Formats: sequence, structure tokens, C-alpha cells
Amino acid sequence: MKIVVHIDDAAQWQTALANAMPQATVLTSDAPESERQNADYLAVWKAPAYLLQEQTQLKGIINLGAGVDYLLKTSGLPSGVPIVKLRDAGMGELMADYVLYGVLHFYRSMDRYAFQQQSATWEPHAVPEKAQWPVGVLGLGAIGSFVATHLSQAGFPVVGWSRSPKKINGVRCLHGNQGLDELLSQVQSVVTILPDTAATEGLLNAERLAKLPKGASVINPGRGSLIDEQALLDALGDAQTPGHVRGALLDVFCEEPLPANHPLWQHPNVIVTPHMAAPTPLHEAIDQVISYIKAFEAGETLATVTPSEGY
Ligand code: GLV
Repeated sequence: MKIVVHIDDAAQWQTALANAMPQATVLTSDAPESERQNADYLAVWKAPAYLLQEQTQLKGIINLGAGVDYLLKTSGLPSGVPIVKLRDAGMGELMADYVLYGVLHFYRSMDRYAFQQQSATWEPHAVPEKAQWPVGVLGLGAIGSFVATHLSQAGFPVVGWSRSPKKINGVRCLHGNQGLDELLSQVQSVVTILPDTAATEGLLNAERLAKLPKGASVINPGRGSLIDEQALLDALGDAQTPGHVRGALLDVFCEEPLPANHPLWQHPNVIVTPHMAAPTPLHEAIDQVISYIKAFEAGETLATVTPSEGY
């Protein structure tokens, strides 16, 4: 069996996979073309088009991340080959830490203290009760539901939203357009953890941002396409005239890396991080990759990605 790996630190993944599956030939995409071809499985993150195009007998593609948007947009993706993606695989916890940091940043007025420090202003702000600080989580897949549960365990009232109805202990789950409006009108922070699909593009547009209570914050560790960036900038206002939205913690952008001249870099109420909220953790992910390959080989039915839905 031949497995070809493509990801930033592919050599580490190659070693871990080869150790766990000594009967398999595990290569990285740096191997010569003649060796890379005829793979049974690709385990990839942001694979180059040629790697997909040159394969002729793939039994499955394993996406080494939670979002399949990059993969589905890669030209030459063979149709009909089953695709599986990592489900949580340790990313839930990383994402939950990132989001909790963002919620606490605004809840404990860290944004205000950063401004005050510039003028040596010693002025404590009252800490509201957590019960008065509902947080909304848009997207309740494996990672979104982990994040929602984590926030709820940290003491925040959590409202979750997904396309179809969901039930999560400790989380008030809403769905549909009406559910989204209801959520937005109630939360102090809104967190976006949805996949990038035709249905989610620009979900947080000017109209929906305006539904947030004044002073709410936005945390986006999901995908840049979920938010209309110009609408967010307009809602944030500027240093002289603060807008409806108080601030944002953003990890993902419509264009990545975020261009150096993009106004989000300069905005005083925005924290930009370079798509680092939940890097795929090697060990947990490897276990999942191995179990996927074993299941493919055993002819088991796997929960595969539906390309037409985008996740
Ligand atoms: C990261 O962006 C992922 O989809 O895993």
C-alpha cells in the first residue's frame, strides 16, 4: 500500500505513519514523480494540484485539517474518490483555548486596558457577571460543539447555531435564519466556526452585524469568507468614532496571508493572528489517519465529505 503525505512538516508525519504502518510505503510529496504516482491514499493539507492530477488509482483522500475548502477548490481533484477529513483530532481543545482567550479579552476589558496603558491611565472597569455575557457560537460541528461546551463549562451562557437542529448539554441550540437573528440579538461575543461553503459566504454581513447588541465583539477562528470584511470594518468604526461592534479577534481572512496594506492590520480594535488558532496536532491526527486507512481497507462505510455541500 502506498501513502503520499503533503503538509508543512511532512517528514514528521511520514515517520509517524511509517512507524505505525510498517507494511505501507509512506512517501512525502517531495519524492520523485515516478514514485509518488499510483498512490492508494493521499494524506494532505493544501496539496498542490499536480499531486492530485497525477494519481490514477486512489482509494481515498484524507484531509489533514478540519476544513475541506482548500482541497475542494484544488483543480484536478479526482471526482468519485472518497474524501475524509479530520474530526476534532485535538483541534477542538486548541480552538477552545483560542476562543476563550478572545472572550476573556473583551469580557475582562483587556482591550480597554491596552488603550489606557498608552496614556498611563489607571482606571479599573467593573466585571459583569458571566450570566450577563452570553456568547454565540456559529457552527456546531465537531470543533464548534467542543468550543461551545468549553465556554459553557467556563461559566458563560452559550447559544449555538447550526444549519440543522442540534442538542448539546449546557448549550442553547438554535438553527435556521430566524435562529441566527435571535442569537445575534442576544450575545456579547459571536464566534464563527463554520465551514467555507456557498451557503456560509458573507454570513456575517452588514445587516447581521447590525443585529448584535451595541458593543459586542466578533471572534473568527473559522474561515475568512464567513465575514464581510468591509462590513466589519464599517461596524467597528475608527478610533475617533467607535462603531457598533467593539472589537474583533480574527485568525482567518478572505485573503491569506492578510495583505500588508489591509486596513484590518491597522485597526486599533482588531487583533490579527496568522491562521494559528488550531494547527493540526500530529499525534492525535495520526491515530485518526490510521483508523481511516484501516477502515477504507476493511471496506467499512466512512463518514465522507459531500463535495456539493462543501463539508
Ligand atoms: C484549519 O484551518 C483546518 O481546517 O483544520
